[in-house]
Amino acid sequence: MTQGTEKAVGIIGIGSFVPEKILTNKDLEQIVDTSDEWISERTGIKVRHVVADGENTSDIAAKAAERALKDAGLTADDIDLIVVATATPDMLFPSTACLVQNQLKAAKAAAYDLAAGCSGFMYAIVTASQFIKTGLYKHVLVIGAESLSRILDWTDRNTCVLFGDGAGAVVLGEVPEGYGILGSNLGSDGSGGDLLCLPAGGTSRPATEETVRDRLHFVHMAGNEVFKFAVKVMGEAALNALEHAQIDTSEVDWLIPHQANIRIIQSAAKRLKMPMEKVIVNVDKYGNTSSASIPIALEEAIHDGRIKSGQVITMVGFGAGLTWASAVMRWYRK
Ligand code: ACO
Repeated sequence: MTQGTEKAVGIIGIGSFVPEKILTNKDLEQIVDTSDEWISERTGIKVRHVVADGENTSDIAAKAAERALKDAGLTADDIDLIVVATATPDMLFPSTACLVQNQLKAAKAAAYDLAAGCSGFMYAIVTASQFIKTGLYKHVLVIGAESLSRILDWTDRNTCVLFGDGAGAVVLGEVPEGYGILGSNLGSDGSGGDLLCLPAGGTSRPATEETVRDRLHFVHMAGNEVFKFAVKVMGEAALNALEHAQIDTSEVDWLIPHQANIRIIQSAAKRLKMPMEKVIVNVDKYGNTSSASIPIALEEAIHDGRIKSGQVITMVGFGAGLTWASAVMRWYRK
């Protein structure tokens, strides 16, 4: 809820970009001991996009950002701040946000990255919206972008079938009172950090021959544990955000959950008593694109006309950290 002199903040432009190259479940059957049937039944995923050689997180982030700027009717010069949510930055430093700032030639923009695993985009819009709410900035570009294919162990069927690459971007700006972000909920439980992590390559375990030999530069995940955590927090986080917004579940027009696994999505919908017709699902086409999944799903549903101005949407994600995040928004379009 906005209060007093605080400005109402919403999404005034949105765009997404996925790399051209695709990998089907059938393709994966050639790489690891898996089947289209197993992947489809256990996850709902059919196809995922992967970056090409030389194509990096910053490149796909910048492409999504250009589309979001165009959608907002703005240019890079209008942007005060760029926040990139990613678990797969081009480098440890400089930030991917600075690389994007350079690609866009957004000369007036500050830039930083935000790391909250697959909850990153939700964390980023809640964080970035504060700058506009207080009047410090007018337009903030928030991007969720990932090149997960670069950190997957393509010999591990438990993980490599689940993820995909892509980017989604939004421009945040002032919207009329009563529209935009109405409530949110962010949370974390660091005790579960080792359930989903990239063990080496940071400063605690720099790259050595041993870390490479032991395949510690790839995603490690306790899938079942993460599944249980996700089922628990998705519904809770969404309900907390709705309470913060003082909106009843029955008033929600669309649920946009993090696209990790169709079974997790179905259980979140059940907990919120929302029929699947009101849930935006595209995990079949992209797999889990981590921090890009919610903005890609949102962009599709806006541009194909499902989400209309005035409707209430609830976005909710979970991810490495462990983290969870949700925001309730009344969609605004002139
Ligand atoms: N193909 C075929 N068989 C497989 C595959 C595969 N790709 N992967 C695992 N299996 C096998 C396992 O080896 C196991 O065999 P076993 O019984 O002989 O040991 C069997 O399938 C069942 O494995 P489970 O792990 O019990 O399968 P489950 O139904 O739990 O599904 C999955 C696994 C899909 C990983 C699920 O647990 C899940 O979706 N977890 C959440 C993952 C997630 O969302 N991660 C992203 C977090 S967000 C972020 O920040 C990145």
